[in-house]
Amino acid sequence: MSGGAEEIGATASIAPIAIHLTVNGSPEVLEVEPRRLLVDVLREDLDLTGTKVGCDTSQCGACTIHLDGRAVKACTVLAVQADGSSVDTIEGVAAGRPVGAGLEPGLHPMQAAFVEHHGLQCGFCTPGMIMAALDLVGRSPEPDGDEVRAAIHGNFCRCTGYQSIVESIQAGAAAMRAEGAS
Ligand code: FES
Ligand code: FES
Repeated sequence: MSGGAEEIGATASIAPIAIHLTVNGSPEVLEVEPRRLLVDVLREDLDLTGTKVGCDTSQCGACTIHLDGRAVKACTVLAVQADGSSVDTIEGVAAGRPVGAGLEPGLHPMQAAFVEHHGLQCGFCTPGMIMAALDLVGRSPEPDGDEVRAAIHGNFCRCTGYQSIVESIQAGAAAMRAEGAS
């Protein structure tokens, strides 16, 4: 007996689709099923596990990346929706920075500020916080405390109580201004 819709549901498979991304400046061609989230493709297919999954439901911000230069939660984006886009993750933030000089060699000034100003404890939220912070500083190079709090309102931290994160982001922004970065 034919199973009709049940049979279709039991046997149908959705073919992977080729997508083109520029990830941390490098071109990538990936075959992905249309159902897969961008955060899972970054972590599982490209081994970019710096981007975290805290909730998978757009609540915590641990998965924050930059998509075409703006901060987004990568668990809210299907990988196929990102086809043709530039993606930047925490792994690319310090890329190319000199190792062996300064207090925190090889770190971006925003990362170094989190270390110096106690902006992290367990560190699980930190990649997402830093990507949100860099998006903010790109728009507002000298953010006040309210701007910082608004920028990270979608990023949860279970450890720090947030004030040290706000101070870290402002210190990181100051260091970027001093360095002439943006
Ligand atoms: S894992 Fe994306 S918002 Fe929590
Ligand atoms: S440092 Fe632990 S969740 Fe933020």
